[in-house]
Amino acid sequence: MCGIVGYIGSKQAYPILINGLKRLEYRGYDSAGISLLNKKVNTYKKKGKVADLEDFVSDKDISGNIGIGHTRWATHGEPNDVNAHPHVSMNGHFILIHNGIIENYSRLKEKLQNRGYTFQTDTDTEVLANLIEYIYLKGNVSAEIAVRLALSKVIGAYGLAIICKNEPDKLIAARKGSPLVIGVGEGEYYIASDATPIVEHTKSVIYLNDDDVAILGGDGLTLKTIKNDKLTPKVQKIDLDIGEIEKNGFDYFMLKEIFEQPRSILDTFRGRVSLDKKEIHLGGLHTIFPKLVNAKRIIIIGCGTSWHAGLVGEYLIEDLARIPVEVEYGSEFRYRNPIINEDDIVIAISQSGETADTLAAIKMAKQAGATVLGICNVVGSSITRETDAGVYTHAGPEIGVASTKAFTAQVTVLTMIATAIGYEKKVISKDNFYNLITELHDIPAKIEKILTNNDQYLKVSNLYKDVTNFLYLGRGYLFPVALEGALKLKEISYIHAEGYPAAEMKHGPIALIDEKMPVVVIATKDKSYEKIVSNIQEVKARKGIVIAIVSEGDTVIRDMADHVLEVPETRQELAALLTVVPLQLLSYHIAVLRSCNVDQPRNLAKSVTVE
Ligand code: G6P
Repeated sequence: MCGIVGYIGSKQAYPILINGLKRLEYRGYDSAGISLLNKKVNTYKKKGKVADLEDFVSDKDISGNIGIGHTRWATHGEPNDVNAHPHVSMNGHFILIHNGIIENYSRLKEKLQNRGYTFQTDTDTEVLANLIEYIYLKGNVSAEIAVRLALSKVIGAYGLAIICKNEPDKLIAARKGSPLVIGVGEGEYYIASDATPIVEHTKSVIYLNDDDVAILGGDGLTLKTIKNDKLTPKVQKIDLDIGEIEKNGFDYFMLKEIFEQPRSILDTFRGRVSLDKKEIHLGGLHTIFPKLVNAKRIIIIGCGTSWHAGLVGEYLIEDLARIPVEVEYGSEFRYRNPIINEDDIVIAISQSGETADTLAAIKMAKQAGATVLGICNVVGSSITRETDAGVYTHAGPEIGVASTKAFTAQVTVLTMIATAIGYEKKVISKDNFYNLITELHDIPAKIEKILTNNDQYLKVSNLYKDVTNFLYLGRGYLFPVALEGALKLKEISYIHAEGYPAAEMKHGPIALIDEKMPVVVIATKDKSYEKIVSNIQEVKARKGIVIAIVSEGDTVIRDMADHVLEVPETRQELAALLTVVPLQLLSYHIAVLRSCNVDQPRNLAKSVTVE
């Protein structure tokens, strides 16, 4: 949450910063601001999107070779011009942007108020700006020392970029809990919350670790801990193409990402699942694979869509590998004194690799002695660095706030893990194994086919764009898909939607069904098919509107449902990968028809780095 960008070098900073903020806008978009250093510091802040800031500065002085910019997802203080970042310390010495939460800010604020400091905003960040300034003036120390001393008094999380007016030849960056990447160019440095604003300028990056402080400037780059221990920067090359972070002709990133799925799923299993060799090879799990095979229990942790992928993982691993699985929300797991054993395997699933609750749950599991694996999309992210081993999803950058291709990539990884363990344990036979991996290879082409029906999804969306409630039902592997379908709809179209296991409908949601209630039933041919057909009858008996996702050629449901959307047949273990696609497109079209900004839904952020 919140996007941070900074530049120091010989180029004009403004174009780099404003472009960077547009790339980071998926992290938060309730206000944006920028500070540029050119003898004096000019700070401009505006409620709203980065485009509003751009309009606002169109007649202002935007010169300067050093600058910082921020796009905000509000935590402390409502979204308005004043609470927008950058924040300037009371006497104007420090200007800073912050991603995270200073948890002890009210105690620090009180102390500063007792020493004569006054505050203009409701934010925790202004407290930090003033604390740094207080230490700087009182101790007569350098900006760097003031920053390090101030941070040693802070409880909470931060990614920071800081300008000191009296030391105009440097930028200071610091990280604890919130991601920060430094881009290393020719005599210039970039700071950003992730690599997307940097990649068009340089491919050399340094990922900061918790408690790192980087001083960037004419003298080069100095990296140390907040306790002043010098560190050797590890420069890495990023493999990210600019085309991957552009819309490439699509109206929205979400639509582009939905349409990318045949390719992204292929990228997820390419080189890992071999039909020739009849094997699954997951390099990132190599060392701990025997432990996985012998696991007594697997705990899957995630949030949001990643948690839904985890639920599919539970069905897959229990079904194919016969290992008991529990699926946990990171936020619940970390605070409820869970029982974690040393021989437990914990699998953390996260697109961003930065979700605060998932990260905290991992740390807790590690402390208890469990082996922790990650399934992440963002290379070099915090979760990938905290875990003992892992598998990248290789879905490419996902920019739309509502997750789509990351979900199908996560399910693909879980399918590979479950199948590999099941085969190794001889739970699944050679023939069954071969059939499964062959079917997996066919999934991209089947999704391609589903995508050709886009007009049909648009037509159905048009009919129901104005309803206020939706119900989604599924059974077995398709129950998590029902949850995911409902989540997609509510997050981008603001229509209330609930996902339920179809059989649970009669314990509550059935009371909601009348002739105005659309019920999306995911009812492809699997072992629960007959049962879900009965559930459809129950909905129809109460005059509900049934939109059914069915297997190609299904005539039984066609005769009862109001609308059928067909997907090609596949094995039930893989059905989530296909059936979720029509639901993604249904939500997308409904949201667009309701004039919602699907890439930036209200109140949400892509990367939730606060708990
Ligand atoms: C936010 C995003 C969701 C995502 C969830 C978990 O809520 O808007 O799309 O599923 O965080 O994020 P993660 O990066 O851990 O998968």
